[in-house]
Amino acid sequence: MKNQLVLVLDFGGQYNQLIARRVREHNVYCEMVPYTISLDNIKKKNPVGIIFTGGPAAVTNNDAPLYDKKIFELGIPILGICYGMQLMSHLLGGSVKKAEQREYGKVNVELSKNTLFNDCEKETTCWMSHTYYVNNNPSGFNTTATSENCPNCAFENVEKKLYGVQFHPEVNHTPEGQKILKNFLYNICNATGDWIMSSYVDETILKIKQKIGNKKVLCALSGGVDSSVAAVMIHKAVGDQLTCVFVDHGLLRKDEGDQVEKVFSEVFDMNIIRVNCEEQFLSALANVSDPETKRKIIGEEFIRVFEREAKKIGKVDFLVQGTIYPDVIESGAGDAATIKSHHNVGGLPDYVDFEEIIEPLRNLFKDEVRKAGLELDIPEELVWRQPFPGPGLAIRVIGAISKDKLDILREADWIFREEIRKAGWDRKVNQYFAVLTPMRSVGVMGDERTYDYTMALRGVTTTDFMTADWARLPYDLLEKVSNRIINEVGHINRIVYDITSKPPATIEWE
Ligand code: XMP
Repeated sequence: MKNQLVLVLDFGGQYNQLIARRVREHNVYCEMVPYTISLDNIKKKNPVGIIFTGGPAAVTNNDAPLYDKKIFELGIPILGICYGMQLMSHLLGGSVKKAEQREYGKVNVELSKNTLFNDCEKETTCWMSHTYYVNNNPSGFNTTATSENCPNCAFENVEKKLYGVQFHPEVNHTPEGQKILKNFLYNICNATGDWIMSSYVDETILKIKQKIGNKKVLCALSGGVDSSVAAVMIHKAVGDQLTCVFVDHGLLRKDEGDQVEKVFSEVFDMNIIRVNCEEQFLSALANVSDPETKRKIIGEEFIRVFEREAKKIGKVDFLVQGTIYPDVIESGAGDAATIKSHHNVGGLPDYVDFEEIIEPLRNLFKDEVRKAGLELDIPEELVWRQPFPGPGLAIRVIGAISKDKLDILREADWIFREEIRKAGWDRKVNQYFAVLTPMRSVGVMGDERTYDYTMALRGVTTTDFMTADWARLPYDLLEKVSNRIINEVGHINRIVYDITSKPPATIEWE
């Protein structure tokens, strides 16, 4: 039986993938499609609801992304978010105006009593990020929310099942956002909530099995959650037809290479080839300090090593990649601006002799990947392993890297992680790590003056890794970590804790 579908029409906003994820969190299957999709294709997909996303454009600009207004005649409920609300207004004869003041951040909003805001607090905060707003509603629409600076934060046309919100219900900073989306799905689109992870995993394994048949598959395994879950999924489908190559680039955390090798070869009994190439990577990275150049070099060296190993294996039919949704969006695959190039997207395909690529996790967010991992009986400690970036510690030694600096970072990071685990904070903080800054400062140890490096500690809480808050770790824990690092690791005389959220910072420092 086919799952009910909600379509998200992408107009280029930064949080768009989150909308899809939130919808699926409510057990409704959701796909995001570019706004260029034809009306006929939308009809063929037969969605129970449509969501217009936000986007950076102004709807009145000549080159603004628009849509055929016949979409409003389909009788399918539509929710416009931010730019999506303005677009709905513009297409239906309302007007949009530039506000005197840009609204950005948490804003107090008053919500009316209606179906979309059912059960929500009347006065609440919402996350805003807009310059324009709907100053004249199209006919048949009523205003349903206001803020101090925006007289029209939401509108509705109940008869036509059209709704708009100027704020972002999809982000955590809008406390009533989940309820609002749930109301849209269940009370307006009449969704039944028929999408669950176990069925996604079973269906995906079945599809992979049918697709691969008795052919050969190659997978680049990093030991991170994504590539591990992807590899185990393929292994469940086709067993020994899968070979995994694990490139140990020398930028891993303490003891990590050995652990990865052990888990996959012993616990899962998979074909795994470990390639140790620390020297190759370190010499390619010598004297390089720009983060994006580091990523590019690591990506290129990775391809070189992988290509060399793949040649030894010979021609394969399929190549597996553990790409997940945020990788796709944050690498600028959609219309959103590129923040960082995550090197695990793209890259390999041109260099390996294979027929087709398989990306079993391309539609999933990190926490969904974890749920899939548990469904696949992957041990909890692996499923709950915090994410680790492909370029590894190279983007956590700020500026030029060296073996010595990597070793200092590895030791400090290990202490931080060990103390977090011992204090029972490892599940409460979604990502935590140490960063070696290039800053040196004066300290005193014993009676001696020191002039050594500053180590930064970072811990964040997040569900989606697209927005994040800094973790409120107990002072006692931070104190213990600080003392241990200073005492046990050389060349560090100052420890700082990073208290910025994302945005405005990112999770990694580079
Ligand atoms: P940022 O720093 O962009 O990180 O807020 C979001 C998440 O992505 C991870 N990250 C990367 N992962 N290659 C990766 O595979 C990369 O180049 C990369 N940069 C950041 C980061 O650890 C966090 O989980």
